[in-house]
Amino acid sequence: MKSRVFRALIQSMLVAAAPLSLQAGCGTCVKTEPTPLSAEASLRLRMATWACEPFCGPDVTVCSVIVAGQSPLSIDCNGKPPMMPVPSRVSAELMLDECAPLCGAQAVACTISNQDTRYPGEVVRLCSTNYSCPQTPGAIAGRRPADMQRADCIADHEVGAFFAETCQLEAAAVTAFAILADELRAHGAPAELIAAAEQAERDEVRHTQMTAALAQRFAAVPSLPTVQRHAPRPLLAMALENVVEGCVREAYGAFVASWQGEYADDAKVRAIMARIARDEIQHAELSFAIDAWLASKLNKDERARVEQAREAAFRELSSELDRPLSPSLRSTAGLPPSTAAQAFLHAHAQQICCA
Ligand SMILES: [Fe+2]
Ligand SMILES: [Fe+2]
Repeated sequence: MKSRVFRALIQSMLVAAAPLSLQAGCGTCVKTEPTPLSAEASLRLRMATWACEPFCGPDVTVCSVIVAGQSPLSIDCNGKPPMMPVPSRVSAELMLDECAPLCGAQAVACTISNQDTRYPGEVVRLCSTNYSCPQTPGAIAGRRPADMQRADCIADHEVGAFFAETCQLEAAAVTAFAILADELRAHGAPAELIAAAEQAERDEVRHTQMTAALAQRFAAVPSLPTVQRHAPRPLLAMALENVVEGCVREAYGAFVASWQGEYADDAKVRAIMARIARDEIQHAELSFAIDAWLASKLNKDERARVEQAREAAFRELSSELDRPLSPSLRSTAGLPPSTAAQAFLHAHAQQICCA
């Protein structure tokens, strides 16, 4: 019964979008700062191989940009005459190991440019460094295991950061379902619940690969989280985690994936998220079934604690969703408008979850 209601709820929510709120964030992103060069700056910096070709031709893989304060930039094509003069407006990306003298040891990329619109007519260095992204709600996908350490990811665009974070959560969900299957086995759960948890573990492996591809599509480098395995826990601990991570958060993740599969502007995002959504709906349904089985094993006080955890999880998730969302996360990643997100949560809390 719950499965039919849950699927009908998601279908009913896939309606026209309205302005929305949510932001992505992953452990570490990259920011690039421009700084005009001082008149005394005197450097000879090796350019990235691909950047040499326009100036030096296809046979030259080593070239350098010669920097002398605010004087016009020049190129040394490894001793050969340049094929073209350095344009009056140019940006030259340097080899990473050349960034330290220009930008300091913390730089992860650097560029010399005389066409930065923030400093017209000046030669500037553009130094890219990692920074901690704001801890915004970001991706909500899969179930988070109890002892999970998120890893940093590299992204200079919020859509890439969003999918890198999604990838981490999918990877964490692989272990979460492995732990769940172990605990179900240890507590003598019905075979169909154990089999469904094992299938979900395999699904999450695919989701990790699929969302890693999306992160890379948007120039992000996903990283895998660290998750500690532990011995099977008592039934109450299982129930508390299942109600929060499965009945509330993974069910919401199923709704979001369904929405993305329908409304993302990017066709690849739509295709992948629609595929993931089918699995995530099943995972949410599994959490409802586990919730019902666990409820039959818990006493009255323990069931009350599970109910309190459910209500708290809905409140927490609702407040996480009540934050601004950028246009690119709305359009390219296809995240749902806050009106739809909150409406789903409200209806889900009222109608379905949990025992
Ligand atoms: Fe899942
Ligand atoms: Fe997943």
